[in-house]
Amino acid sequence: MKNLTDFIFVIPNAMPHELCDMLLEEYQTDAGFEPARVGNGLVFDALDDNIRKCEILHISEKDVMQKNAFVRERLDMAVFGCVANALKYYQERVPTAAIQKDLGYDLLRYKEGGFFAEHIDSSAQTPRAIACSFGLNEGFDGGEFAFFGGEYVVQVPKGSAVMFPSNFMYPHAVTPVSNGIRYSIVTWFFNMKIEAKSNCPLDGFKPCRQLECAWFMKIRGSNPNTGDEVDDWGCSIVWMPILMIENAQQQRQTGAAVESFRNEMVRANEVGHQVLVAAAEQRGLS
Ligand SMILES: [Fe+2]
Repeated sequence: MKNLTDFIFVIPNAMPHELCDMLLEEYQTDAGFEPARVGNGLVFDALDDNIRKCEILHISEKDVMQKNAFVRERLDMAVFGCVANALKYYQERVPTAAIQKDLGYDLLRYKEGGFFAEHIDSSAQTPRAIACSFGLNEGFDGGEFAFFGGEYVVQVPKGSAVMFPSNFMYPHAVTPVSNGIRYSIVTWFFNMKIEAKSNCPLDGFKPCRQLECAWFMKIRGSNPNTGDEVDDWGCSIVWMPILMIENAQQQRQTGAAVESFRNEMVRANEVGHQVLVAAAEQRGLS
């Protein structure tokens, strides 16, 4: 018989200490840290420091990345490698953990007094499947993962990771940091695609009538947003943003081609002009 704790793993050496140090060196002075929010299924994305008191930096987001793109893109890739290895470790032990993707990485900073009250990670808005949290530093007290009302407590030393299911059976807290600052990188894996509901705002939000509607059409090609192959049916209105992006890309390419053609023509005209001038000089016409 399996126990709930059989699905909670602390993975040693999940991230090299050098990478932990580089991440802190790069990000700990970033001005983009903000108070972390909570979502409980009813109130989504709210600030409440009675429930959660720590700061967050969304290190995979474009505006954070672009502050020092050369370094940060490489750090992101390095974290991705560690996350992939941690997931492999988990799936070797829990083969039923079918995961599709993660949604980027957050750097969390718990200063003295920082904590996260007991909660679960998954909700209707964010259907997370597995959490993965890397410890980045030492030199603090508290800040442990406490599951099931504190019945099962795990520490996540520097360079290790804790992974556990995000569902309602895994309530957990981060105990208060009583001394020092605790840094961690956290991500979640999803096992389902996030898809918009198939309902039509032009038809009272009833389910899409698909082939009964003349606007339901097939598109084939590559998605200019993701590069993924598209060969699917869908509503014309839903296709519109993708087609507009595609159109903008084509316009840019056309503009670049016209500019290149113009430059070639100017150059050719100059050469022709020089030939005419030289011929005129030879005949003593200039
Ligand atoms: Fe959590």
